[in-house]
Amino acid sequence: MSSNRFYITTAIDYPNSVPHMGHAYEKVVADFYARAARLRGIDTHFLIGLDEHGQKIQEAADNAGTDPQSFVDEKAGVFRALYDKLEISHDDFIRTSEDRHHEFAEDLYRRLKESGDIYKDHYEGDYCISCEKFLTASELVDGKCPIHERPTTVIKEDSYFFKLGKYRDQVRAHIEANPGFIYPDERRREILARLDDEVRDLSISRSTFDWGIPVPDDPEHVLYVWVDALSNYYSALVRPNDLTERFWPADCHVIGKDILWFHTMIWPAMLLSAGYELPRQVYVHGFILDKDGRKMAKHLGNVVDPMQVVEEFSVDVLRYYFLRTFSSGKDGKFSVDELEERYNSELGNDLGNLILRVSKLVQTKLGGRVQVGADNPEFSERLAPDATIEEFFRCADAREHNRAMESLWDYVRATNAYLNDRAPWRIGDETELSKVLGAGVEALRVIAHLASPAMPAVAASIAAALGFELGRIDDVGAPAECEVRPSTPLFPRRETEAKEKQKAKKQPAAPEDPFSKLDIRVGRIDEARDHPDADQLFVLTVDLGEDEKRSICAGLRAHLEAKDLTGRKVAVLANLKPAVLRGVPSAGMVLASDRADGAVVPVDPGEADIGASIQVEGIETKPKKKLSKSNFEKAPLTAKGGVVVYKDKPLRTPAGDLAVDSEDGATVR
Ligand code: MSP
Repeated sequence: MSSNRFYITTAIDYPNSVPHMGHAYEKVVADFYARAARLRGIDTHFLIGLDEHGQKIQEAADNAGTDPQSFVDEKAGVFRALYDKLEISHDDFIRTSEDRHHEFAEDLYRRLKESGDIYKDHYEGDYCISCEKFLTASELVDGKCPIHERPTTVIKEDSYFFKLGKYRDQVRAHIEANPGFIYPDERRREILARLDDEVRDLSISRSTFDWGIPVPDDPEHVLYVWVDALSNYYSALVRPNDLTERFWPADCHVIGKDILWFHTMIWPAMLLSAGYELPRQVYVHGFILDKDGRKMAKHLGNVVDPMQVVEEFSVDVLRYYFLRTFSSGKDGKFSVDELEERYNSELGNDLGNLILRVSKLVQTKLGGRVQVGADNPEFSERLAPDATIEEFFRCADAREHNRAMESLWDYVRATNAYLNDRAPWRIGDETELSKVLGAGVEALRVIAHLASPAMPAVAASIAAALGFELGRIDDVGAPAECEVRPSTPLFPRRETEAKEKQKAKKQPAAPEDPFSKLDIRVGRIDEARDHPDADQLFVLTVDLGEDEKRSICAGLRAHLEAKDLTGRKVAVLANLKPAVLRGVPSAGMVLASDRADGAVVPVDPGEADIGASIQVEGIETKPKKKLSKSNFEKAPLTAKGGVVVYKDKPLRTPAGDLAVDSEDGATVR
């Protein structure tokens, strides 16, 4: 981004039915870039809106038994509500049925005419009402539109034409001279290849319906939807306040790949004809596909309602999933299972635990107050954020938002590793502790700022919990005192009970309780050694009463000494799929729980015999042979009243309850 202003737009949606995942995805992607620009203090203008004219809308209104204006008015409310809910930070919302838009669209038409680029002729062809465009014979598949899989209509009518072909060479030269004009490069090559062929003039009016902007001087015709629609990007800047000087040309038009031609040939040609500057970039995202790889679209009956996902998780979780999972410019399959997995691991374990650990320690060990700032050597030497910040914005400028998120997550993980290494729960000296925890909070200040374009509400919650202000990225690092308040987890473990119920609804056969697949047994640690290659891990030799003792790796080195473990009885998840961790085999998992002060403590089976099975009353166990980690996570174990519980019921050995030294609600894993 060269200048200090940024004008970004999205496609304006057809409000002929309800908004879907594809609409939501596009707006979230654009919103990320708008917020990232504001975070750097760049004067930003972000436009979204609705494309309200045309035959498709008129038909939808007829079917609904109402007039088109009332129809789009009602739909506009639905779209706006979704975008508000999704925290889209648009500065303007244009609707093509607004007067301000009509005036400009007419004006643009006159300019094209004055340039000698309009003539009247007649047109005959196969028209797809859903695409609102004529299809060539080679585009048809079995006589149908390949996108909407429905038959086209033969339309023959008088029409005004725009001399599109005249601009082919000029547009091609522009694309060739400006490599960044079309992102990603594969779309640029696609258009350049298409521009090798003849470009036919474009029919830009219709006389078979009247829901549109009348052609100036010939009100029998209305402007063809695309001329009308594309001009929104400029019309919205003209009124109510003239922002054209400040923001035209647009820096980035965010669109889907199905409307590439309109934005990279037709729109530039119209602007050239009318004497306006060309936009700096057309950013083309891929499609959100269903789990079988088909485009999500209403007529295919495979849409997932974004609102439903938002209600089940949260807005920011959906935004995070969109921005982190799908590679920029590529198609992506929407999978609720993957979303859930990322929720648990990246949001819950990486970020959520970091926030919880740091804030609890500041409260319990420092009375809730801590000094932050980049001048703290613990921070500047161990957690210097400059490379991360630079990489984050380099990726944002290169339109690689998923990479920007990856670089942020590397930093989140580095901060966790730093805390494991410094083990503040073991530091007694208050000055040293203040430095270490100050560094942790300062790192979270960086993280909250960089997370804010993707997850604005999460960023605000982190700031509120840790007691710092969110501002521009340049403000980060200034010394300040933070007051850390008790807060609730941002990414709580999800109610599996509710989920199970929902699943049960879907499949009438009673589902097995996830706990029944677990094989938890009492074991004794006979030996604990440092892992040769992983400084967090112990290699334990554990006796489970079997013929052979087992080797199990456990991430307890930051918390306990080897001598604390030798001879100790523990609860072991015995059927966890064996793995090799940095060269050392591990068959099982020692159950432990997180304590609020950051310590991790193994749960205690008390006097029970080695090999004894640990059960929950009322659940018959049929352990799987090799249990995956995710299947284990489906049966969340937590601490309650000093014992380990599953669905509020205690886990029991034959000798009594499984004890745990953690607060209520702590996860046992
Ligand atoms: N009204 C036109 C755009 C005019 S822009 C001057 C239009 N509207 S649309 O409602 O059909 O699509 C709006 C945007 O959503 C387009 O950029 C389109 O590519 C995008 N998506 C529609 N379905 C999609 C997916 N399944 N996945 C991702 N985006 C897709 O086209």
